[in-house]
Amino acid sequence: MELESQYVLQNYARYPIVIHRGKGCHVYDANGTRYLDFISGIGVNALGHAHPRIVKVIRDQAALLMHCSNLYYHEFQGPLAKKLAEISGLQRTFFCNSGTEAMEGALKMARAHGNKISRDKTEIVALDNSFHGRTLGALSVTGQPKYRSDFEPLLPGVRFVKANDAADLEQAVGPNTCGIVMEWIQGEGGIVPLTHEFTSKARELAGRHNALLIFDEIQCGVGRTGGYFAYQLASPATQPDVTVAAKPLACGLPLGAIIANERAATAIGPGMHGSTFGGSAIACRVALEFFDILEELLPQIHHVGSYFRLLLNEQQRKHPFIREVRGYGLMIGVDMEIPGKQMVLDAMADGLLINCTHDTVLRFLPPYIVTEKDVDAAMKVLAKIFAKQKAA
Ligand SMILES: Cc1ncc(COP(=O)(O)O)c(C=O)c1O
Repeated sequence: MELESQYVLQNYARYPIVIHRGKGCHVYDANGTRYLDFISGIGVNALGHAHPRIVKVIRDQAALLMHCSNLYYHEFQGPLAKKLAEISGLQRTFFCNSGTEAMEGALKMARAHGNKISRDKTEIVALDNSFHGRTLGALSVTGQPKYRSDFEPLLPGVRFVKANDAADLEQAVGPNTCGIVMEWIQGEGGIVPLTHEFTSKARELAGRHNALLIFDEIQCGVGRTGGYFAYQLASPATQPDVTVAAKPLACGLPLGAIIANERAATAIGPGMHGSTFGGSAIACRVALEFFDILEELLPQIHHVGSYFRLLLNEQQRKHPFIREVRGYGLMIGVDMEIPGKQMVLDAMADGLLINCTHDTVLRFLPPYIVTEKDVDAAMKVLAKIFAKQKAA
């Protein structure tokens, strides 16, 4: 901790524990103290820690080939892109390393798509309260001043509209719109799902004005909600032209993906985009192994998530400061009238790792392998913390 404070850029406000190892849904700090991990590296460690099948493929592949650049083929990008096509209903994938990089590529795709039609077709419509990453392009479509203001001016031509306000969206989208960007469930914005009415309006407008509809599934996608992608929760599903994914894809190794239909994919031709590290052999192989395991886990994610929300709803009935329990599957937010920062510290002192977003929303992103027993253990801590607030 001392060395970090002296030598590392001081951009993170870290909690004062040093995580040394993890096993399943638990992590252990350098003193051997055990914590139940209900944030899983902000939605990254989808299979928890040290999953035996993931450990095995990493060991095997590290001894064979980790990276060969995108100058050559390796054995795993093709099969992984095929899997992503099968589960998303989209056709082609570009592999990168992180969420924000996937968003940058998707924005370039929208711009290139627009430019092919008209030099004026460059506008992007995004949502207030959204979060799409920290690089300049992704920040330009992030609708929260606290992330943007230090870095302005950002990309011109971005219009922000209110989430779930179909009339506002209709006003903003026009012939010069090349892309409409949204998270199906706003994550950093406080676990706020979009309505079916709003996303289907976005689909209709994107079609009417020949713009690309881009769903950011970096936090809410790839199993998190109990389906492969959050946009598939609605029936009938609102199919985007492009979706971006990252966090859980390779269970802790960096891997991001832009998955696009043919209409969007044709915007990017040879030499127009690339990545040195993107889609390494080791990350892609881990992702294939992960998908093999995920298929069987989806019902459990749905079931355990419902159980967790049920117990949180019971707490809501007891404590008027809890405004709402929101989310799907294992992406859950407890919206409160009071700040959550101290509660996160109290939970940590009681061996539970959680997080607070948007100041007043406790956020839970546990690993997909979490069981009802783990939820019971977490609820024991949470009930105590909520009761303490009531007393105060
Ligand atoms: C919805 C969403 N988009 C983009 C990002 C950025 O991803 P990364 O931190 O991997 O760049 C995040 C990260 O939290 C996110 O939640």
